[in-house]
Parts: sequence; C-alpha cells; structure tokens
Amino acid sequence: MTGTPPHPTGQPDVDAFAKPETPDTEVTPEAAPAGGAIAVERPAHHTPSAFEKNGPTGDPVVKLAGIRKSFGDLEVLKGIDLNIYQGEHVVLIGPSGSGKSTVLRTINLLEKPTSGSLVVDGHEYGAGSTAPRGNSLQLRRTVGMVFQQFNLFPHLTALDNVALPLRSVRGLSRRDAEARAAEELRRVGLLIRAGHYPSQLSGGQQQRVAIARALALDPKVMLFDEPTSALDPELVGEVLRTMQAVAESGMTMVVVTHEIGFAREVGDLNVFMEDGVVVESGGRGFYENCTSPRAIEFIKAVK
Ligand SMILES: Nc1ncnc2c1ncn2[C@@H]1O[C@H](COP(=O)(O)OP(=O)(O)OP(=O)(O)O)[C@@H](O)[C@H]1O
Ligand SMILES: [Mg+2]
Repeated sequence: MTGTPPHPTGQPDVDAFAKPETPDTEVTPEAAPAGGAIAVERPAHHTPSAFEKNGPTGDPVVKLAGIRKSFGDLEVLKGIDLNIYQGEHVVLIGPSGSGKSTVLRTINLLEKPTSGSLVVDGHEYGAGSTAPRGNSLQLRRTVGMVFQQFNLFPHLTALDNVALPLRSVRGLSRRDAEARAAEELRRVGLLIRAGHYPSQLSGGQQQRVAIARALALDPKVMLFDEPTSALDPELVGEVLRTMQAVAESGMTMVVVTHEIGFAREVGDLNVFMEDGVVVESGGRGFYENCTSPRAIEFIKAVK
C-alpha cells in the first residue's frame, strides 16, 4: 500500500455512515467476529429501520407481477410476483440456477421480461400496462446495482470511480461530482483511500467503493447480487457491515446472498426461489420458521 493520498476535501475523515476500518464505529456490530459474517444474534445496538417499525407505506417502489423470462426454449422465471415497499429489505435465496440474478437483472431491465408487469417508482417497464410507461434511462437512474465483481475502472482512483457517473449520468460539474464522491466515500469509511487506485485497495474496499458509486446516484432502490461471494472470507464482514449501514439508513434494498446471518439481520422479506418460482417467502423469523422442505434443506446447507 502506498502512502495516504492527499485529502480531497480537506475535511476530517469523519464517518457518518460506516467506519468498518475503525474500532469505534457506530454501526459495526461489536458482536461481529473479526472478518467473518456479522453476528447471527441481533446485536443490542440494532437500529430498526423505518420499514421495520412502521411496516409498508404507500405503493410499492418495485412491483413485479406475473414476470416470466425465457432464454430461447428455457423458461427461467415462471411467474414471479413481488412487491417491494419504501425502505423494505428483501433477501433472495435459493440454489444456483433458480433465477435470483435474473429477478434482480429484470428489476433494472438488464434482462427484459418475456411477459408480466414491472413497475418501478410508478412507471411501467414490462409488458403490462397498469402505469405510465418509463424509459430505461429513467430506470437506471432509479435503480442502483452492486455486482459480485466490483467492476471499478482500474485506471481511475476511488474518488474518480465514484465521481465519473455523477458527471456522465447526473451531469454534475467536476468540482460538484468530486465533492459528492468524497461524501459517499466518507459514508462507507473510505475517504482516506480516495486517491487510491483499485489495485491499491483490498477486495472489500473495492466493493465498498462500488457501493459508494451506486449510492452517489441517489437510487430509489439498491440491488446487490452476491456482493461478498468473490471476497476472501476475512473481507466479507466489512462489506456486510457497510450494507447493514445502508439498510439502517432506510434504503430500499434487494439482496441476493448466501450469508444467512446477514439475511436474518436485515431481511424484512425473505424469498426462497427454486426453478424460476418463489417456493416460500416470509418476514422476520423466516429462517427458523419456514416450512417447505426445500427451503429448510437449503438454509441448513448454507448455514
Ligand atoms: N443470458 C442467458 N442466456 C441463457 N441462459 C441464461 C442467461 N442468463 C441466465 N440463464 C439461465 O437462467 C437460469 C437462471 O439463472 P440465474 O443466473 O438467474 O440463476 P441464479 O439463481 O442467480 O444462480 P447462481 O446462484 O448460480 O448465481 C440458469 O439456468 C441460467 O443458466
Ligand atoms: Mg446469480
């Protein structure tokens, strides 16, 4: 690691959001094993989100109704119905090939559904006709996505990786984009690494930069597709703690993960999929109380 880069804002590196690198963080569960998955038991400081306290309010931010998706002859989603409300945290689990990524990719139209209705933030993007039609650019501005591979530009610093879409998508000036990017890096505890290139950052830090990059665009909903599965085990905890902080900030989230401890902690709605259908879903307590043999078997296998 090279020396600390110049501070981009001149402000102290105070972390209002998550400080995974410092021991006195306000959001890191003390009970979390060093570097491991966050504690299964809810820590004493757990801050219930507005959704957890108040339940669903208003119309769903994301509404999938009868979503089907085929690749050639292979139907991989066979009628998915899912309502996701403001501030709700949805966890998708299920075996490989069950269609979890395809559900996420449908929500931001990386995959176009073969049939069914997709409504995001009041606009219809699927084949349905229940709401005014939105365009895909509008959708990409509404939905942030974090992938297993962080997809940072290797030739750009952490700050520039976050600032670039602020300029290209949001049309901010360089100065404004850099100020906002610095703020987002601060929120994920990485302002101190703003001048570092991806190769100078650990995988966990790179993933946190990718989270900052998505958050910077002020999405209405954030999608996470197995964000920790490419990481060395000792780096998983810092990313999960950052995601937990995002969850506690009230962000609407859909997360595909095999980290059952994390799922238990943040999942307001937990969805078990197999073969392109939702087999069973449930609220808090799902991992203890689900009844379908396949869900029980799957949860036991990944725990
Ligand atoms: N672009 C594509 N072309 C053809 N088949 C695809 C395509 N994308 C996904 N599939 C198939 O769709 C099915 C569901 O894939 P998907 O990636 O959604 O599963 P998943 O639940 O995310 O699995 P994993 O846990 O392995 O990531 C699989 O059979 C997969 O091979
Ligand atoms: Mg997948």
